[in-house]
Amino acid sequence: MSIKFEVLHVCKQSGARLGRLTTPHGVFETPFFMPVGTQATVKTLEPKEIKEVSEGLILGNTYHLWLQPGEDLVEKHGGIRGFMNWDGSVLTDSGGYQVFSLTEMRKITEEGVHFKHHKNGSALFMSPEDSIKVQEKLGADIIMSFDECPPPYETYEYMKDSVDRTLRWAKRGKDALSTDQALFGIVQGGLNEELRKYCAEKLIEMDFPGYSIGGLSVGETKEEMYQMTKYLNPILPFDKPRYLMGVGAPDDLVENVIHGIDMFDCVLPTRIARHGTALTTEGKIVIKNQTYEHDMKPLDPYLKTKVSKYTRSYIRHLFKAEEMLGMRLVTYQNLAYLKHLMQEIRTAIKEDRLLDFKEEMKKKTNYFKS
Ligand code: GUN
Repeated sequence: MSIKFEVLHVCKQSGARLGRLTTPHGVFETPFFMPVGTQATVKTLEPKEIKEVSEGLILGNTYHLWLQPGEDLVEKHGGIRGFMNWDGSVLTDSGGYQVFSLTEMRKITEEGVHFKHHKNGSALFMSPEDSIKVQEKLGADIIMSFDECPPPYETYEYMKDSVDRTLRWAKRGKDALSTDQALFGIVQGGLNEELRKYCAEKLIEMDFPGYSIGGLSVGETKEEMYQMTKYLNPILPFDKPRYLMGVGAPDDLVENVIHGIDMFDCVLPTRIARHGTALTTEGKIVIKNQTYEHDMKPLDPYLKTKVSKYTRSYIRHLFKAEEMLGMRLVTYQNLAYLKHLMQEIRTAIKEDRLLDFKEEMKKKTNYFKS
């Protein structure tokens, strides 16, 4: 196992954890947020810029890179890092989630999942072993078990079968692994606490170097999500990293850190950026709105970055004129803001005042109003 994790401090006010994750490509303070680089690129940014607006870890997707350009071509470049010229750390998702969220006509068997290509409709199949073999070639420091991510409101019977299958797949993936990449187990079980506990305990018996929480932020309410991370907090091993998959709205980051989460990723900051929504220290703003036509302030008056030299008025113009630079600038801002937010969260944990920090953020921003 080639990662190391230590909890350095527990916030006396909130119970949140400050930790340190060491991978073969860096040492990172937790909790942190990872930008999503699905196709070996964080859309619109160069690696140097990704470095500026991240902690130095990004997420890549097995599903996409397996289909295009294929894992062998990526391996020829020395994995995702060599392929995209990124010298930081990479975590790959297993493809489990993408198979369930992007494709139609799935048939789940014990062996794996049969499904149709999300663009050209061709017949495809992926097993837990296939996912591991592809992830070995993609070469990330941290990789994920192949799991099933069912909708949150499935019946108990369905969820129980699904969790048992995900557990058998986790074991098969672990047995197939022939590298020292750190393979995480993924806790599923929908909104059922008994199933979540069962899934977590069975994975813990298998002894993974870290545990992911999947199947959240898939249509349930925020309260249901927070309730589940709160519930799992004392069940998951204290000394292993916990990664909440696919979560990255500013309010969700704060709430889930309070419930013991160390790692996050989400397409949200980069996706909304390309549609003109900026995350700032003052809250969320829709830059295309008329209000900003004559606004001479920078996008985020309280966070100085290389985007600060442009006015809101200019960035609005770029979006109205459908100029690509607009997407780039807002992507940079949104990731810079989340990096800044996570730094503030870590400082608040260190100083035992994360609940006070949350209350201040509620007052200062619109993030907690849905
Ligand atoms: N990304 C967001 N949610 C999930 C999940 O449940 N499983 C996997 N593999 N990836 C995810």
